Amino acid sequence: MGKIICDGNTICYKDQGQGEPLVLLHGFCGSSEYWDQVVPLLSERYRCIVPDLRGHGFSDAPMGAYTIEQMADDVVQLLDALELTKVTLLGHSLGGYITLSFAQRYASRLNGFGLIHSTAFPDSEEAKEKRLLAVRGIQSNGITPFVDKMIPSLFAPDHINTHPEWIHLAKEIGYKTPPQGATGAAMAMRERPDRREVLSATVLPVLLVAGEKDGIISPEKTFTVDQPKVTQVTITDVGHMSMLEAPDQLAETIVTFLDKVKAN
Ligand code: MLT
Repeated sequence: MGKIICDGNTICYKDQGQGEPLVLLHGFCGSSEYWDQVVPLLSERYRCIVPDLRGHGFSDAPMGAYTIEQMADDVVQLLDALELTKVTLLGHSLGGYITLSFAQRYASRLNGFGLIHSTAFPDSEEAKEKRLLAVRGIQSNGITPFVDKMIPSLFAPDHINTHPEWIHLAKEIGYKTPPQGATGAAMAMRERPDRREVLSATVLPVLLVAGEKDGIISPEKTFTVDQPKVTQVTITDVGHMSMLEAPDQLAETIVTFLDKVKAN
C-alpha cells in the first residue's frame, strides 16, 4: 500500500490500474478491502485509488472526534500527493458523506462524483442519540461486539442466511477498525450537516446508487434530487453493501456513469 502523511497522520491507499483516475471511499468500519472485488472490474480502464480513511484499516486512528471535513481534507491531500488535479470521486455511506463535503469545497478537483448507499441528509435526533450509545458501547466493550451486531444489518435480510461468507468477510474487515477510529468517525457522522444543496446545485455529473433492500439508508434517502445531471440507480436484491452483494452490477453501474462523465 502507498502511504502519505495528512495532518501528521498516515493515510494508506491502494493505487491500481491505468486510465482516468477514480477514487473510491469505503464506509464506516470498512476499509479499502470493501472495494477489492470491484476494483479488478474497473482497473483495466481506470486508475483506481482506494484509501483507508482516517481511523480505518491501515491508516492512523488519532484519538478524539473527527469531522467529515477533516476526512475530506485527507482525500484532497492524497490527490495533491499523487499530483492528480481532477478525479471522479465515489463514496460508500460514510465515504459518501465525505464525498459531499469534498464536492462542496473542492468541486474544481472533480470530473463527477457519486454516493453509493449514502445520503445528503444529516443524522436525525434519534440517530444522533444512537451514535452516542455506539460510542459508549465501543469505549466500554471494544470493537468486536459492535461489529458483530452492526455488520449483519448492512446486508439484505436474505443474504444473512444465503451468503454467510459475505457477512464473515465484512466482520473480519470491521474487527480491524481501531476503537478510537470507529468512535472518531461516529462523531464525525453525528455532526455532519444537511448537504442536499450540494446535490441540487452542482453542475457536475452525479451518480446515486441505492440498494433495494438497504435497511440503513433507504433509496428515498439516497434519491433526494432529480435533475438532469443526476443518474439514479437502484440495485435490486441488495442491502447496503452492493460492493460485496453484487460487485458485477455495481461495477457495471460505475462504468456506465464514467462513460457519461467522459462525455460531459
Ligand atoms: C456506513 O456504512 O458507513 C454507515 O452505516 C453509515 C452510517 O452509519 O450513517
